[in-house]
Amino acid sequence: KRPVAAPDKDLARTVTKVGVIGAGLMASQFALLFLRRLQVPVLITDVDQARVDKGLASIHEEIEKLEGKGRIDSDTAHRLRALVHGTTDKGEYADCDLVIEAVFEETAVKQQVFAEIERIVSRDTVLATNTSSLSVEEIGSVLEHPDRLVGFHFFNPVAVMPLVEVVRTPQASEEALATAFVVAKDLRKNAIGSADAPGFIVNRLLAKVMGEAARALDEGTPLATVERAFAPLGLPMTPFQLIDLVGWKVAAHVQDTMASHFPDRFHASENLHALAELDQALEKDKGGRVTGWTKQAQK
Ligand code: CAA
Repeated sequence: KRPVAAPDKDLARTVTKVGVIGAGLMASQFALLFLRRLQVPVLITDVDQARVDKGLASIHEEIEKLEGKGRIDSDTAHRLRALVHGTTDKGEYADCDLVIEAVFEETAVKQQVFAEIERIVSRDTVLATNTSSLSVEEIGSVLEHPDRLVGFHFFNPVAVMPLVEVVRTPQASEEALATAFVVAKDLRKNAIGSADAPGFIVNRLLAKVMGEAARALDEGTPLATVERAFAPLGLPMTPFQLIDLVGWKVAAHVQDTMASHFPDRFHASENLHALAELDQALEKDKGGRVTGWTKQAQK
């Protein structure tokens, strides 16, 4: 297939208010990025007030850190704190020009959220999903206007990683795509266009590294040996550190998605699933997390 040309940036919608769906770790990182770079009102919502408050607290904490490091002055810190708002009332998305979701990585969950939001926002609002490997077209299939949905896939840690994938479904409008590209530039990210293919571009590559590391475990190689073999390459992170960063559950999910689409090329690791379950069980006790093992493996 011939590559598709980037959309005309003049078609981009002006973004004067951003909605982030969810108030978890990823959602708080998005909210902070949008606040800091666009300096427009940012709304976060979640299913209960406790989660919203936790998300807001983490955003305020990060603003304080930025101020402490001298990255922003106190006036800006004050302004950013005033621009972020959290609620459980989804009705407040009504005047958002762009709404991005960072909810559970399951097609049905994302579909339900977007179907609800579409009834609230205006016809011009662009919707974006941060899915890392699900089909954007399938997520958008429940929408009355699927042309407004794009994939907007950021990488962890959102504040630091310079890349974002803008995912084009066959239905995506040039306006929605142009908005994503222009917003990405304003966020000071490098945007690349991707087809709506499993794993898009980057996760397909990363899943190979993570998957082969997990396969080594399945073959009986100790985790520490895999880490020691990889460390001298000098990349910022070894495979299991990377898995730990993105989350064991997310990494196992990405592997499953890739293995189901490309069974001849990807491998769904039993050990990766076992470790993901263990990590979840130990989640509350940070010291006991699988993280500790990867750190030990580095010594
Ligand atoms: N959140 C916010 N900021 C963070 C952070 C986090 N989780 N982790 C690090 N940072 C910031 C630090 O605050 C620091 O910022 P300042 O310069 O303002 O002080 C900066 O990043 C560098 O941090 P450190 O010096 O502590 O650490 P480092 O030099 O070891 O870098 C790293 C840390 C940037 C995470 C680096 O290890 C790295 O690039 N790792 C690879 C990350 C990667 O490949 N991510 C992609 C994951 S795949 C994915 O996300 C896709 C998916 O869908 C699954």
